Amino acid sequence: MSVTVVSHPLVQHKLTIMRMKETSTASFRRLLKEISLLLCYEVTRDLDLTTTMIETPMQPMESPILDGKKLVFASILRAGNGLLEGMLDLVPAARVAHIGLYRDHKTLQPVEYYFKAPEDIVNRLIIVVDPMLATGNSAVEAITKLKERGASNIRFLCLLAAPEGIKHFAEVHPDVPIYTAAIDEKLNEDGYIVPGLGDAGDRMYGTK
Ligand code: URA
Repeated sequence: MSVTVVSHPLVQHKLTIMRMKETSTASFRRLLKEISLLLCYEVTRDLDLTTTMIETPMQPMESPILDGKKLVFASILRAGNGLLEGMLDLVPAARVAHIGLYRDHKTLQPVEYYFKAPEDIVNRLIIVVDPMLATGNSAVEAITKLKERGASNIRFLCLLAAPEGIKHFAEVHPDVPIYTAAIDEKLNEDGYIVPGLGDAGDRMYGTK
């Protein structure tokens, strides 16, 4: 298993402001977009490059270009969409999958209500995004669904992870590296990450 904590000072600073309970919905959303650019930069740091011949105004040159098929960003609805926007700004040609899972608040188990992914995901790198890796149930389920359709090259990107979620995730999908801005202390009895930032979906969309 591999867990990368993105310790970049800008990421850590923005995350602190997002955690603050007095941060407004507008600020939370703006910070999430900004942070997603930085996290996307890290999760794509080692993408394969090839070269192509181009002509600058001065002369021809062989210049680096991304190799392989277009990436797929897979957003676990609804909070995943908060990370998606910035990532698409950075990689505009990426394909997008939407996976609709909500957490049953009693059982904490994921319930699927939507799944739409590009048909040819087999040979693509898929970056699954969800701000909170709490119990890990939703992320595990989303990745299981992608693997059932042939995906094998998958990374998971989140903002905050709980140790319990990382453990569960790594037991089921040890081949999928996790990228996060922080690993928090624990889950509380309601399945929320503490100290955390509250309900990411509610905070970004102002629904509570
Ligand atoms: N989902 C959230 O939005 N927040 C948590 O703390 C856990 C799951």
